[in-house]
Amino acid sequence: MSQPAAIHLADYQAPAWQVLETRLTFELEPSATRVTTVLTLECNPDAAIGSDATPPLVLNGEHLTLERVSVDGRVLASDEFTISETHLTLDGLPARCELETVVVIDPAANTALEGLYVSSGMFCTQCEAEGFRRITYYPDRPDVMSVFTTTVIGDKAHYPILLSNGNPVERGELEGGRHFVTWQDPHLKPCYLFALVAGDLVKHADSFTTMSGRDVALEIWVEPENLDKTQHAMTSLKASMKWDEEVYGREYDLDIFMIVAVNDFNMGAMENKGLNIFNSSCVLANHDTATDAAFQRVEGVVAHEYFHNWSGNRVTCRDWFQLSLKEGFTVYRDQSFSADMNSAPVKRIEDVAMLRTAQFAEDAGPTAHPVRPASYIEISNFYTLTIYEKGSEVVRMVANLLGKEAFRRGSDLYFAQNDGRAATIEDFISAMSEASGRDFTQFMRWYAQAGTPEVAASGVFDATAKTYTLTLRQTTAPTPGQNEKLPLVIPVRMGLVSADGHDLPLVLEGASLGSESVLELTEAEQSFVFTGIEHAPVPSLLRGFSAPVKLGFDYSREQLAFLMQHDSDGFNRWECGQRLALAALEDLMAAFQRGDKQAHLDERLLAAYRFLLTGEPTDRAVLAEMLTLPSEAYIAEQQAVVDVDAIHWARKTAKAQLATVLREEFVALYHANEQQGEYAPTFEQMARRSLKNAALSYLMGIEDKEGMRLAQAQLAAAHNMTDVRAALTLLVHSSRTELGNPALKAFAERWSHDPLVMDQWFAIQVTRPQADVLDRVRFLMEHPAFSLTNPNKVRALIGTFAGQNRVNFHRIDGEGYRLLADVVIELNRLNPDIAARIITPLTRFKRFDAARQALMKTELERIRNEKLSRNVYEVVEKALA
Ligand code: ARG
Ligand code: ZN
Repeated sequence: MSQPAAIHLADYQAPAWQVLETRLTFELEPSATRVTTVLTLECNPDAAIGSDATPPLVLNGEHLTLERVSVDGRVLASDEFTISETHLTLDGLPARCELETVVVIDPAANTALEGLYVSSGMFCTQCEAEGFRRITYYPDRPDVMSVFTTTVIGDKAHYPILLSNGNPVERGELEGGRHFVTWQDPHLKPCYLFALVAGDLVKHADSFTTMSGRDVALEIWVEPENLDKTQHAMTSLKASMKWDEEVYGREYDLDIFMIVAVNDFNMGAMENKGLNIFNSSCVLANHDTATDAAFQRVEGVVAHEYFHNWSGNRVTCRDWFQLSLKEGFTVYRDQSFSADMNSAPVKRIEDVAMLRTAQFAEDAGPTAHPVRPASYIEISNFYTLTIYEKGSEVVRMVANLLGKEAFRRGSDLYFAQNDGRAATIEDFISAMSEASGRDFTQFMRWYAQAGTPEVAASGVFDATAKTYTLTLRQTTAPTPGQNEKLPLVIPVRMGLVSADGHDLPLVLEGASLGSESVLELTEAEQSFVFTGIEHAPVPSLLRGFSAPVKLGFDYSREQLAFLMQHDSDGFNRWECGQRLALAALEDLMAAFQRGDKQAHLDERLLAAYRFLLTGEPTDRAVLAEMLTLPSEAYIAEQQAVVDVDAIHWARKTAKAQLATVLREEFVALYHANEQQGEYAPTFEQMARRSLKNAALSYLMGIEDKEGMRLAQAQLAAAHNMTDVRAALTLLVHSSRTELGNPALKAFAERWSHDPLVMDQWFAIQVTRPQADVLDRVRFLMEHPAFSLTNPNKVRALIGTFAGQNRVNFHRIDGEGYRLLADVVIELNRLNPDIAARIITPLTRFKRFDAARQALMKTELERIRNEKLSRNVYEVVEKALA
């Protein structure tokens, strides 16, 4: 087999042909769907060769059985076009013509879940990035934009509901028990935003009046048994529509907006014009079946997809290298929305925690890439934390550098200049620059340079001169294919905190800056001299996590405990608590490594916890975050060589010692946050539940009698899934299998009909820290509720095990690695996109000791011997390079 080739941004060429109009007709049959496509084509004037000769028309198409091609009504003979496994090419076409193709496809056999496929008996589509070529022959690239008219024909009994983009314009009955609906989408769009759904669905209907007074019908389509799980998504949708009007001035532009829930879906959701298709896990929620975290995810994803209507659809991407143009910006928009709807500091803490574990790990691994990559083999592999989350951080820096008003002027200008266009990242930045007068030349390096910058800070107080000199140095370690790194523009929001806990007035080079300032680090090293400082201050740096960097400063533990209590920035109070906890955990890890299992937790961390538990009641949501020790994944990120066993032992030991010393306080915290009254997904209630469950988790860490009793009572009371899942997890993860096992059994009996709840049942079991868990994973892979063709099941069972049960995945006998590789090999054939994602933990072998490295590499090599999909090929080659 020939090796898949890389595609380069530098090779971009404008399309030779435009599609003025696209008319599609689907005759739906699960194993043989006929697609008739009529394209009105026009040769781009600058692409014409000579006076009247046109360049070849090259259409993408894969897994299609061609029945007929005609041009301007004349059926072509087979020697009048060229067909390959991936393309249909026509030569010598008139500069303007109408092309008709008829193909047959097999949606029922489509386990890749790209293009048109069948999920739980319904037809649905996923076309981004390159799925449309599995539906029909087409120039499948985002800079070809067209208006679409789609007629869907299907059996009326099986598929009473037939949906596509835009507005329904015609419907009727056909012979043989079939019916049809024709949809027209007046907006120009690339084919990746095409969608079709057909099935036996019911809707939750509502409406929204836009700011200019237009009524929009809102419809959430689900299987009948899920109709009681749509209210939260509907509430979130209406809130999103309102928020985008108020914050960005963006109004919805069709008469109808639809969401469909689908059980088999590779990603979270898809922003198809007027017809968003969602993984059921990101839209369905009610308090019996979904946790608070799931409710928040629904709110965030509904907003994300809705916001794409402007940042993605009205303004789309010129090519897939620009993916972060829509994804980074849209993540920034959904994060801001969620911050406004909930606790803003907690939202920031959660987003930063995820960035610093998962995205920083990506930046440090073999698939590191810039926010705008220079090349790719398979674009599906680039729907990454770097494109999405780091991309959002880059937009956040733009917004913070410009300030609220200039940023809004910039986004207005961006939408105005690029509406109906396929744009580039330069278009976005140039609008921001034009609206603010700011020069972004150096800033653009954030889009081109991979890797996480490190900023080393140091401070010198001069009592005689009354100055405090802060020196910042930046470096970025080399990443694959990118050895040289240039200095970035790094905004460092900061303050200087006095001994009595107040922000000192900042005077820099004679200018008064108030109590807080944003230093712009633009060179490799810079010093900032603050004057009029009477006593040595403690610097509070990178407030609100003002740039996606690793900040180093040699704080003493006393200073960390001090800032944890006094920093005026909520994010940094949390951050300093985490740094203090990390230092204490590192002590315990060192003790474990020397064989000392009697080591005691640093008193200063105990004191900090006592302060948190007994001090004045602060924001409950933030308190719950502050009472959570850094995750195993985050601790691992801080180590030169990851010692999974030491990390796990240290964290467990720290929790147990905290629980032993502060037992009464945790019991009191539990009871203070027990709730009466009806469940609501409000952030106040969520904060109480997370505090209560955090307390329970500490008590269960020492298998405290009272804790055991509370957990069992909480599970039995079963008020909502958040509390049920927390209690069940703690019981299942305890040593008391005589309690955990019957509880699991009862749970499965109650919920076997609900796939999203069963996903949780899998996840709870495979995160059990005990060594017998690996047999359990293999056993559960044979469970009737498990299926390798359902991505949610693969994520719940395999992804959760490999990603969150670190001690057992990294077992020194290599059995965890072998299990994952077995799954990757199977999925490589069934669903390459998911295979290439689930493999990630194996690709990070360089972070571990030599023995584990060798075992992981053996598995990667075993995978490499298979006939690989492009997706898995690219990841494995990069990992082993
Ligand atoms: N644009 C979608 C979103 O961010 C993601 C779709 C990705 N699909 C894929 N096959 N990689 O909401
Ligand atoms: Zn998106």
